[in-house]
Amino acid sequence: MAGVGHYVPARVLTNADFEKMFDTTDEWIVSRTGMRERHIARDDETTSDMGLAAARMALERAGTAASDIECVIVATVSPDFQFPATASILAAKLGIAGAAAFDIEIACSGFIYGLTVASSLIRAGVYRRVLLVGAEKLSSITNYDDRGTAVLFGDGAGAAVLEASDVNCFLSSHLGTDGSDPSLLQIPGGGTVEPLTAGGIAAKRNKMVMKGREVFRFAVTKMIDSTDAALAKAGIAPADIAFVIPHQANRRIIDAAAKHLNVLSDKVVITVDRFGNTSSASIPIALSETYAEGKLHDGDIIIFVGFGGGLSWGAIAWKWSA
Ligand code: ACO
Repeated sequence: MAGVGHYVPARVLTNADFEKMFDTTDEWIVSRTGMRERHIARDDETTSDMGLAAARMALERAGTAASDIECVIVATVSPDFQFPATASILAAKLGIAGAAAFDIEIACSGFIYGLTVASSLIRAGVYRRVLLVGAEKLSSITNYDDRGTAVLFGDGAGAAVLEASDVNCFLSSHLGTDGSDPSLLQIPGGGTVEPLTAGGIAAKRNKMVMKGREVFRFAVTKMIDSTDAALAKAGIAPADIAFVIPHQANRRIIDAAAKHLNVLSDKVVITVDRFGNTSSASIPIALSETYAEGKLHDGDIIIFVGFGGGLSWGAIAWKWSA
């Protein structure tokens, strides 16, 4: 992972802002989620724009020219268009139209899936340099009339430049999904099951809906199970972990999983208070911040772990080597 970067938009939506929008309190939001503020993109700011800013930071830190990137992968559930892929738009904005480019749509597990795919492509010798981006404009698919979900989501992007290396960094990956009940967490309208109509748009069927309590229980269980599975596959003990960089959906979910895994809280990276849940961007944003703070050292074992719509989940054991 030669370079990492991130970007969040300038505009901040605080809990106090939500107190003016509907019946809620700062105390409720902080105690139930750990969130205090989230960043929201401008109307004219797209997912690929945010991905571009994060990618440029990652490329600069890697000392890699965009022209050396052979493949661009964007993980997102809030793409610029239903198609073409946001990755192909981002590649063009980077001046590397012609590179392989595709999106991964697996909600908040997107960065974990993307890192597995990118690492595997490099290991298989298909590419030597892959740009992986998690980018989301979740404000575009959030129903701001629903206090149960509106407070949770924010916008932003994170990126990683992955290069072939003699050091084995990709120690293990454990991925899973269960699509038996899409209604737990979904955008109900706009696909082939429920094509959008004027009535559907008025009823906000093109925005996210979630059964929060069910997703909460699933999230804690899968964070624990997939971390255990990734550790076992890699032959690593919890005591060997330098950092856990989890998907940032809810402070209580992260704390419950960390407690069960017996990982000290100072090893768990938390950004949920400042950025909320940015879906596939949350892990690479947290990684980029941890790098910028000078905390990562060669050889450190990092656990990336996430869950989300699908339902989906996954964990990766990664050895840091810049
Ligand atoms: N302010 C005040 N009250 C609220 C708010 C709010 N913003 N939102 C909900 N409430 C109320 C509810 O109406 C309910 O009231 P009632 O008891 O009178 O019916 C009460 O608070 C409790 O609601 P719950 O949903 O049971 O609250 P809970 O403690 O479960 O917290 C939360 C809700 C924060 C959404 C939690 O369930 C959660 O974090 N779930 C997981 C979300 C998640 O991780 N999503 C990840 C995936 S996202 C992706 O993949 C795109």
